[in-house]
Amino acid sequence: MKVAIVAAQAENQVIGRGLEIPWKVKGEQALFKRITKNGTLIMGRKTYQGIGRPLPGRTTIVVSRNPDFAITGCETSTSLELAIARAIEINKPIFIAGGGELYRQALVVVDEIHLTTIHTKVDGDILFPDVPDNFNLVEEKTFTSNINYTYRHFERT
Ligand SMILES: NC(=O)c1ccc[n+]([C@@H]2O[C@H](COP(=O)([O-])OP(=O)(O)OC[C@H]3O[C@@H](n4cnc5c(N)ncnc54)[C@H](OP(=O)(O)O)[C@@H]3O)[C@@H](O)[C@H]2O)c1
Repeated sequence: MKVAIVAAQAENQVIGRGLEIPWKVKGEQALFKRITKNGTLIMGRKTYQGIGRPLPGRTTIVVSRNPDFAITGCETSTSLELAIARAIEINKPIFIAGGGELYRQALVVVDEIHLTTIHTKVDGDILFPDVPDNFNLVEEKTFTSNINYTYRHFERT
């Protein structure tokens, strides 16, 4: 079963500032929804705290090294490997949904990357890592909005 990263970065690879995503781009969240629809999201504890609620229509597994961490409406896991194993059992498309710490670890295991680049530079302290050379670009589409953005789909070679 394939595992994908789904992320949005600014042109300077910023994905977050503190717990927040530092932009509002019309249509970009709808794109995230379309990509992840009916799937299982795996996210870090800080990303979950930034969102503050389970996202509808998807199963969410939140990873924390704290074994006592629990949230109503989500599953929890104490490692990325265990979270992926659980998502495979759930048997729906699997998406690693951030944040920076999770993306860095997941890059070595994922088969695909759905990466949207927002065409602006923003201040922030959380970055998306470089896409490794062993990923091929298989689809690219640019959207016009209040800030234009480009969706790119990469697959591991
Ligand atoms: N633009 C985007 O597409 C996008 C998407 C998602 C998030 N973001 C942004 O990213 C930022 C958050 O990223 P972040 O790097 O600070 O944090 P994060 O990756 O969301 O969460 C980090 C936390 O996850 C847990 N964790 C990480 N690796 C683990 C592992 N292997 N096993 C068990 N638990 C593990 C730990 O929780 P404990 O400390 O509880 O142990 C760790 O402190 C926010 O600004 C958010 O808005 C952006």
